[in-house]
Amino acid sequence: MKAFEVDGRAIAVLFSEDEIAGRIDALAKDIAARRPHRLLVVPVLKGSFVFAADLMRAMFRAGLSPEVDFMILASYRSHTRSSGRVEVLRDIEAEVKGRDVLLIDDILESGRTLAFAKDLIAARGARSVLTAVLLEKPGHLAADITADFRGFLCPDKFVVGYGMDMAHQFRELPFVGYVRVAESKCVRDGILQRQRSLRWPANTQRLPRRASSERCTSARRAR
Ligand code: IMP
Ligand code: MG
Repeated sequence: MKAFEVDGRAIAVLFSEDEIAGRIDALAKDIAARRPHRLLVVPVLKGSFVFAADLMRAMFRAGLSPEVDFMILASYRSHTRSSGRVEVLRDIEAEVKGRDVLLIDDILESGRTLAFAKDLIAARGARSVLTAVLLEKPGHLAADITADFRGFLCPDKFVVGYGMDMAHQFRELPFVGYVRVAESKCVRDGILQRQRSLRWPANTQRLPRRASSERCTSARRAR
């Protein structure tokens, strides 16, 4: 699997730029096939901003001309509150009555965020509320919701890139990946293991190789 060094962390690529672009074009065609009425697209920020921007442009290519408005939600996840409370930090300004609304999010995990947003928009009189997510992590659903449009099923890892962050980092990556903890530790310690699976991009400075006795053995055990 291809990987990149970013800020001293080893990020393995899960979904490449090309794979994502192909899926997004297919999703836009599926959305257009529903012939939405006065379509309003609502990206749920922040994590969905890159996906939403690409999906909007793919919608244009698929013959749609949606409006867009933004919502910022904060969800308090299960490790802080068992109820998974969701709070509106920024609401949309657009009128939704009688319109088809498409909510866009990066990941569907517990489903609490999207279920909350869907109920909110539906209660304001939208004709329909559809949902599009780039990724779905199965096995964690705690709300009664399914994505109408989904990019990829996602392995049960904490993913970053393509708008998604880990402690405010990595949103800028053009692909979806995950942090390989073992190799990241080696990079931070200045000890780079030779691994066939870890390919640094051409313009990345490679750290000097150490003697085998100095290599990061704990990384091997952890994998
Ligand atoms: P839920 O479906 O309400 O549990 O929340 C999903 C939200 O949690 C997503 O919109 C992301 O913002 C965030 N999230 C869940 N898993 C990840 C991940 O692996 N990386 C980054 N953000 C995540
Ligand atoms: Mg989110």
